[in-house]
Amino acid sequence: MSGDPPGPQGDRLTGNLHSFTSDPLGFLTDCAREYGDVVNISSHNVLLGDPGDIERMLVDREGVFAKTTAETRQRTRKRGFPRAMMNSEGADWRHKRTRVSPAFTRALVAGAADLAHQEASELADRWPTGEPLDPAPAVARLALRTVTKLMFGSAMSDEDVAAVSRLVREIMDVSLSPITLPDWVPAPRAVRMRRALRDVDRVIAGVAGRSHAADPSAAPVLRALLDGDPAPSQEELRDELATLVLSGFETTKNAVLWCCEQLARHPAVADRVAAEATAAETTAAEGAGAGRLAALPFTDAVVRETMRLYPPAWLTSRETIEEVEFGGYRIAPGTTVTVSQWVTHRDPRWHADPAGFRPERWLGGAGQPPRGAYFPFGLGPRACIGAAVAGTEVTVVVAELCRRFRFELDDPAAVRPRPALSLQPSGLGLRLRARQVADAAG
Ligand code: HEM
Repeated sequence: MSGDPPGPQGDRLTGNLHSFTSDPLGFLTDCAREYGDVVNISSHNVLLGDPGDIERMLVDREGVFAKTTAETRQRTRKRGFPRAMMNSEGADWRHKRTRVSPAFTRALVAGAADLAHQEASELADRWPTGEPLDPAPAVARLALRTVTKLMFGSAMSDEDVAAVSRLVREIMDVSLSPITLPDWVPAPRAVRMRRALRDVDRVIAGVAGRSHAADPSAAPVLRALLDGDPAPSQEELRDELATLVLSGFETTKNAVLWCCEQLARHPAVADRVAAEATAAETTAAEGAGAGRLAALPFTDAVVRETMRLYPPAWLTSRETIEEVEFGGYRIAPGTTVTVSQWVTHRDPRWHADPAGFRPERWLGGAGQPPRGAYFPFGLGPRACIGAAVAGTEVTVVVAELCRRFRFELDDPAAVRPRPALSLQPSGLGLRLRARQVADAAG
C-alpha cells in the first residue's frame, strides 16, 4: 500500500476550501479527472470515483462507515430533528428504519401517482401561457403538498398542509443560517420556530385522530410510527414526519424543474413524452394508481436521464470509523469519504456520450452502467426510503405538464446548476405554449 492519495495542494493556510466553495461541481470534477479514483480533496477528506469503491462504501461496509458522527449529531440536536431516522446511527437507526419501512408499500406509490396527477393537473389549469414564468414556487408548492399528504395521510386540510409548510420553511431558514443562538434567546426566528413546532404537533394529533377514526389505513406512514413499539414521543413523531417531508420536498421539486428544463431544450423528446402521456390519459381506467407509471416508460427514462445529468442529491459522504483501503491507499479513521453523483454520473468510462441527453439509454438492453456509477437515490441500507414514491411522483407530474404544454426557455444561457442542499436550476425561466391534443398525439 502506498502513502496518501494524490490531490490538489491548494493554498498553504486554507487548502482547497476556496476552490470548493466557489465552484464545488467544477472543483470535484477536475479533482476526479486529474487525480483518479481516490483523491485527497483536503486533509481528512477523500473523494472516491470507482463504482466498485462507491458500492463498497455505501452498501457493504456498515460498521466501518458512519453517516452521522457525534459532531454532526450535536449540530442537528441544535438545528434540526435529532430523533429522526435520517440523523440516527447503529441500532437506533435500524429500529427506526424497520418501524417505518413497511408503510412504503406499492399502495403508497400508487397513491403518490394519483395525488401527483391531481396536483399537476390543477397546477396546469392555473399556469399562464405565452408569458415569462418562474416555475419554481408553484412546483415547490406541488411537491410539498404531495409529500406532506403522503406522509401525514390524505385527511389533511389545506390549513394542516400550510402549518407543515411553515415548519419546513423555518427549518430550512435555520439550517441555511450561519448563526445559531442559544435556545433561550427570544430571537424572532426562535419564537417563530417554537410556534411552528406547536402547530405541527396539533396537526399530527388532529390527523392521527381523524384518519384512525375514519379509516385506519388512510395514513400508513403516520400509523406505522404511532403503532411503533415502544410508542414514540411527540417530539420523535414530529422529527420523523418533518424529516420525511423535508427530504422529499426540495429534491423532488428540483427533479421536476430540471426535467422541464431538459424538455425545453429537447422538443422532440418532449413531443414523445406528450404523446405517451396522452395515450396513458385516454386509457384512464388502467391509468390510475400503479397503472399510471406502467403506462409511462419513456417519461420514466427521461426522468432517469435528467437525474443522471442533474442529480438532486449531488454529494453523499460518510465518516470512517476504522481504517479502510481504497485503490491501494489506507484511509485513516475519522476521514470523511465523499462520493459525488454529479461527477460519477458524467464519467465517460461508465456513460457513453456523458454530456448528451439520451433517455433511450434507460430503455433496457445491454450497456447498463455498473451499480455504483448511477445512484441518484444512494445505495445500500441507507438508500432513499422514498425512492419509489419520488420517482413515480416526478414521472407523473412531468408527463401531465408536458401533455398540457410545450416548454420554452426564457433565456437558455441563464440556467446554471446551483449546488445548494439539493441541486437547483438557478436562473430557470419558462414560457409555456398550450399543446393541442392532436399535437401531443402526433
Ligand atoms: C428526487 C427525489 C429524491 C432524491 C434524489 C433523494 C435522494 C436521497 C439520497 C441520495 C439518500 C441517501 C443519502 C445517503 O446515503 O447519505 C436519501 C435518503 C433519504 N431519503 Fe430521499 N430522495 C428523494 C426523495 C425522497 C422522498 C420523497 C422521501 C420521503 C418520502 C425521502 C426520504 C429520505 C429519507 C428519510 C432518507 C434517509 C434514509 C436513512 O437514513 O435511512 N427522499 N435520499
